[in-house]
Amino acid sequence: MRLGVCYYPEHWPESMWEDDARRMKALGIEQVRIAEFAWSRMEPTPGEYDWGWLDRAIDVLGAAGLQVVMCTPTATPPKWLIDRHPDILPIGADGRPRAFGSRRHYDFSSPSYFTASQRICTAVAERYGKHPAVAYWQTDNEFGCHHTVVSYSPAAVGRFREWLKARYQTIDALNRAWGTVFWSMEYRSFDEIDAPVATVTEAHPSHRLDYRRFASDEVARYNRMQVEIIRAHSPGRPVAHNFMQLFTEFDHYKVAADLDIAAWDSYPLGALEEQWFAPDVKARWLRSGHPDFASFNHDVYRGMSKLPFWVMEQQPGPVNWAQWNPAPLPGMVRLWSWEAFAHGAGCVSYFRWRQAPFAQEQMHAGLNTPDNRLDVGGNEAAQVADEIRAVLAANANAAIRSKVALVYDYEAKWLFEIHPQGADFHYPRFAFEYYSALRTLGLDVDIVPVDAALDGYRLIVVPPLPVVPADFAARLASSGAQVVLGPRTGSKTADVQIPANLPPGALASVLPLRVWRVESMRPNVTEAVLLVDNQDVTPEDGVARHWRDFIEGDGGPAALFDVRARFADGHPAYVKSGKFHYLASLFDDALTVGLFARIAEEASVETTSLGDTVRFSRRGALTYVLNYGDQTYTLADVADDAFVIGSHAIEPQGVAVYRSGK
Ligand code: GAL
Repeated sequence: MRLGVCYYPEHWPESMWEDDARRMKALGIEQVRIAEFAWSRMEPTPGEYDWGWLDRAIDVLGAAGLQVVMCTPTATPPKWLIDRHPDILPIGADGRPRAFGSRRHYDFSSPSYFTASQRICTAVAERYGKHPAVAYWQTDNEFGCHHTVVSYSPAAVGRFREWLKARYQTIDALNRAWGTVFWSMEYRSFDEIDAPVATVTEAHPSHRLDYRRFASDEVARYNRMQVEIIRAHSPGRPVAHNFMQLFTEFDHYKVAADLDIAAWDSYPLGALEEQWFAPDVKARWLRSGHPDFASFNHDVYRGMSKLPFWVMEQQPGPVNWAQWNPAPLPGMVRLWSWEAFAHGAGCVSYFRWRQAPFAQEQMHAGLNTPDNRLDVGGNEAAQVADEIRAVLAANANAAIRSKVALVYDYEAKWLFEIHPQGADFHYPRFAFEYYSALRTLGLDVDIVPVDAALDGYRLIVVPPLPVVPADFAARLASSGAQVVLGPRTGSKTADVQIPANLPPGALASVLPLRVWRVESMRPNVTEAVLLVDNQDVTPEDGVARHWRDFIEGDGGPAALFDVRARFADGHPAYVKSGKFHYLASLFDDALTVGLFARIAEEASVETTSLGDTVRFSRRGALTYVLNYGDQTYTLADVADDAFVIGSHAIEPQGVAVYRSGK
């Protein structure tokens, strides 16, 4: 459990560096991330490096006892490089290059950029790989930010054709898999295939999904190149990348597989503003962020990180990039920091040390104001640093294995986006809503990929998952867990076709049913859902939204599954067969929570009803309690001397940590 900060020595006069380093250390900061946007200062002229300033900056930080997280600077190729190799610029869906003048202006498939990146990464890694102050690395910065995963350049299309050849071997196999006979879209060779863009009406969904898969693989390949260079020159120093919140444009599991640390950048207020949440929800959590949003991301990245995950950038005050940018309530920077540690973070690193008075992000807060006074977030960081000592003394950040797993998949997002059938069928939202229901019940959740080992879990929740691996049914069944499957699960093959046996396709072996029809629902339309036996669920009934699967028995006796809830028109809304629970729609929050509580009980998983303002997390012998609400929350039944932080009365934006001894 450490605190860090993001620092840009190149933004400030050298005369300030020593004082900055001293004050960081005094605040309780232990690691400093630098240089991810500094290429134009590292190599001001092609081939002529200027390391002097960076050598001195690292020496100053090291001398103050700070560890450096060194970055490769590839998120910002300098102007001279773009002028020499214009093919570095990504090509947008409009066929035009995206221009120099901000950042991330590169195409993952550009051969000249790949070579230039190899060169600068090697130069940085050679120079600093064994420097005693350099303890960690970060590759690039936020892969994919500003919609930069997909490019429609000739280089990308060329590599896409190779990717298709490797996947399908023959063009006949591709034509069959995609079903190109439809609308005379058949190809005679891989070289005839272009990017799925600029078509008259929607491009072919299988073509589009493959393009997304290809683009995702390009990110993984590019990151792997950097990791290999760093490892060769800087053995023993863990390599991280800073992923983004709820970002789904590439398969993060594949990229994280090449890293030591999956880190992510947490901006709870900006995220709330920019995501799908309804205006009243945005207003309610305006200055605190949604109680489950950062938490969801923590669990996503915890699951894919080999070493404890990090928050590489933590929001310290108002940001600049959302439509509206409120200030966090006093206490929130501390609460967000503790929430990360409660989920197992190894480091929380604030973005940034000092607000910059110039350029794009001049309205973005730092721990210090532009005139170099400690801001609210800076004071709260200092408090967290003190408290960390108490928590570490009580118990290191021991891991626990949750009893509950939520299966989270990137391809599902792409497929539903490409082929939604209902305009607001937004996969991350539904995954988040299931997660939030589990957290409302006080549960700790592991977020896992579809190919994860599932043994040991008691409850496995699968948000709508269109493509299921062939062995998924068997792995779910042998886990022994109660399994909840969202609508549209098993509804497509990997080639984006309807399964021959109709959905749930490969899951029919454990769920003997057949989805014979589906319908999507406008945002202002709901369908009543009536529980058949009305057991133990509060409120007892609710509504369905977005979608309906129409279910019937799979030709066998209807008794192969129990109908536990019906829509008002009599069609099954929730059925159960053995340990498998199939939800034929997305239900309102209260009904989802009620059903999950009941299923958790069948799984012998204990729940508590927390409502939506207080959250619990358990790690090792400690329980963390965070209050996002505006009322004091009182913890009963905890001995006075069990508290490591806080006490029985947890004020709004307050935190308590106590020894629960489990
Ligand atoms: C992140 C990015 C940082 C900075 C920050 C502002 O997305 O990695 O460089 O732009 O947002 O909130």
